[in-house]
This record gives sequence, structure tokens and C-alpha cells, in this order.
Amino acid sequence: MSEFTKAASKSDLKPGDKLLVEVNERLVILFQVDQDYFCLDDVCTHDGGTLSDGEFEGCEIACPRHGAKFDIRSGNALCMPATQPTGSHDVKVEGDDILVRLADE
Ligand code: FES
Repeated sequence: MSEFTKAASKSDLKPGDKLLVEVNERLVILFQVDQDYFCLDDVCTHDGGTLSDGEFEGCEIACPRHGAKFDIRSGNALCMPATQPTGSHDVKVEGDDILVRLADE
């Protein structure tokens, strides 16, 4: 498992925002819900759509291609046509830094 890497600063986001960032040459999305942060791969498991272009509401992100929804807290697919989870990564905050640890590196 990789180490935590700085992905953004707290000032880059506010509650309800999402932000596409690169961590270790991989595109991931940071989400802020209230004071909590979450991180998912920028990949829809249905057919590779870019989730970062999708609508983010509550704790769900919708794929803009065919409408699959994912839980940003777990990466789990919530509705068809996606059935498999997308990658979900650990996030922690140190000072003003938002740090991400990729789950599968
Ligand atoms: S590529 Fe995301 S729902 Fe089809």
C-alpha cells in the first residue's frame, strides 16, 4: 500500500465540492461532505466514463454517460448499469493539506 500523498489544500474545496486531482500519476476525485473528505477513482465501472464530469449530490456521484450512481464514501455502485465498485481511497487531513493514500498501490 502506498504512503499518503498531498492531493490538495483544504482551501481548494468547500462542502459540496468535488475536485479532480492527480495522485501518483492517477486521476482521482476528492469530495467534501460537511467536514469530511472522500476520494474515488475518476472511472465509472460500467464503461469507463469520467465520474468527475458527473453530478455530485449528497453522498452520490452520477456518471454522465449512462447514469450509474456511486456512493462516494465507499465507491459502491448504487444503480445500474454499473454493478462493480469503483476505487475508493483513504483520505486524511494534516493542517491545511488533504492527503490521499491509493488503496491498490
Ligand atoms: S460509462 Fe458510466 S454509466 Fe456507462
